[in-house]
Formats: sequence, structure tokens, C-alpha cells
Amino acid sequence: MENQFRAIIFDLDGVIVHTDKYHYLAWKSLADRLGLPFDETVNNRLRGVSRLESLNIILEGSDLADLPADEKATLADEKNEAYKKLLQAMSPADLSGEVRNTLQTLRERGYRLAIGSSSRNARLILEKIGLDGFFDAISDGNNIVNSKPDPEVFLKAAEYLAMPPEVCAVVEDADAGVEAARRAGMKTAAIGDAVRYGHGDWNLGTFADLIEIFR
Ligand code: BG6
Ligand code: MG
Repeated sequence: MENQFRAIIFDLDGVIVHTDKYHYLAWKSLADRLGLPFDETVNNRLRGVSRLESLNIILEGSDLADLPADEKATLADEKNEAYKKLLQAMSPADLSGEVRNTLQTLRERGYRLAIGSSSRNARLILEKIGLDGFFDAISDGNNIVNSKPDPEVFLKAAEYLAMPPEVCAVVEDADAGVEAARRAGMKTAAIGDAVRYGHGDWNLGTFADLIEIFR
């Protein structure tokens, strides 16, 4: 390692694997059923945001925005059931060779590798793609109170790794996640949708660019 970094914390959905497309489909079918508008622009605002906060964004400005909490919880469950059905079809073939090889290279270079995801389905997804047991730590939607842009999920990941935040770097596809990492005192490599906001410390064209950054 020729830099100050000793650990890399990866967001999961939209970074390690393209479950972001399944989130989109599951929210879209709920929005269609409720007669609410939903497109890629709304979807991009849901990246990194918790399930319930995502629902609130979708209901924003509609007659349903002030539904009681239990009815919102039922709608969030409906989306999650549709989402989990889509996840069932996932297998190790959904992990690209590029991501697999890059993770392996970074591990061989001595970096500690962790997941920092707002999702409560993170462990299920890692199992589906054959990465259960691969990461040195997993911080996800089950161990946080506040989701991104709050720094909690990344600070927890650093704590689980027993590393100070300043030696941790984050890889994120959500602008909310880039902001969360900044608030945690960590540098961020933006990928996918996060690139266009220009808030990352590095901008990745492709996942394998990490091999050049983390020597
Ligand atoms: C994040 C996704 O990783 O997890 C969000 O980017 C999602 O879109 C959030 O809402 C919560 O996920 P889940 O699986 O707990 O509903
Ligand atoms: Mg993401």
C-alpha cells in the first residue's frame, strides 16, 4: 500500500451488484398500483436512502403523503416482498468477473474490505451472489438508526473493522452515500449515478479503476 488507506468500504446496491434495477422495478410496480408517477429521476433520489424514506419520497405531494405509519409500513412491506421475489433469481453469475477480480486484487494488496449498505437485505444478496463470508465486516440497514446521508453506516463499518475513519475509503453510487462518507471523514470513489454530481474524491469510469487508485 502506497497511501494512507488500509480499508475500503463498499456500498452494495449499484456498486457490487446491480440490485438497484430490482429496487426500481419493485417501487415502480407499487407506484403504478397506487397511480403515482415514478421514473428514473425519482428512482435516483432513492439511492442509499432507507426503505421507509424511499416510500415517503414516492408519496411526496400526493394524497397518500400523510398516511398513518402502519399503512406506510404495509406499503413498504409490499415493495419489499416484490423486491425479494426478484432477488430470488440471483446467483453467483450476477457478480461480474470485473468486480470479483478487483475485490480479490485489493484483498491481496492487504486492504481490509467491508460493506456499508442501508439495505436490510444485504446479507441475503451477498449469499445469493456467493460473497457470504468474503467481507471482513458488514454494516447494513439492520445495525443503523439513520440511513445515508447520515454517516452512521460507514462509522459502524470502521468500528467493526477496528479502523479509524481516516484510513477508510468508500465506494458509492449514491450522492447521499458520498455525502455520508464525507461526514464520516472518509474519502469517496464515486461510481455510476454518483459521478454526475461531482462530489466524490475520485470518479470511476468502471469498478476496476479502483486497482489504479488503491495501489
Ligand atoms: C440501499 C438502496 O442500498 O438500500 C436503497 O440504495 C434502498 O434504494 C435501501 O431503499 C434499503 O434497502 P432495503 O433492501 O432494506 O429495502
Ligand atoms: Mg447504492
